[in-house]
Amino acid sequence: MPKLFTKDMFKGCSETVEVYADKHTPIIKCETCVKRNEKVKVNVRVGNHFTHPNTPEHYFTYIQLWSLEKLIAEVHFFPGTFGDKPMKSEIDFYIVPKVSMHLTAHAYCTKHGLWKSNEIYVKVID
Ligand SMILES: [Fe+2]
Repeated sequence: MPKLFTKDMFKGCSETVEVYADKHTPIIKCETCVKRNEKVKVNVRVGNHFTHPNTPEHYFTYIQLWSLEKLIAEVHFFPGTFGDKPMKSEIDFYIVPKVSMHLTAHAYCTKHGLWKSNEIYVKVID
């Protein structure tokens, strides 16, 4: 597996490097307490404040959703999927959890490697 980068690895660096980290870091948005066996939307967006290039040579080729060490969903993109303007790649996953989850998202940039989100704990209740 390639090296995993996180935004925290670049804290305290120059503003240029912090912008670089921001636009590569996936962010998970979802409810943190959900019902067992009911569909849940998990939104993953890459970049908080800044957009990432979106050219045929430089784009995010996949976004994955993990719970601890288990891959639970992934989506692949191709050059042009989102046009050609700088953007924040984004996807909504719909999953049906049976147990509580420790979610992280991974996003792979074709030039700058694999980036990981913060972990989100999602409690599943009956
Ligand atoms: Fe990149």
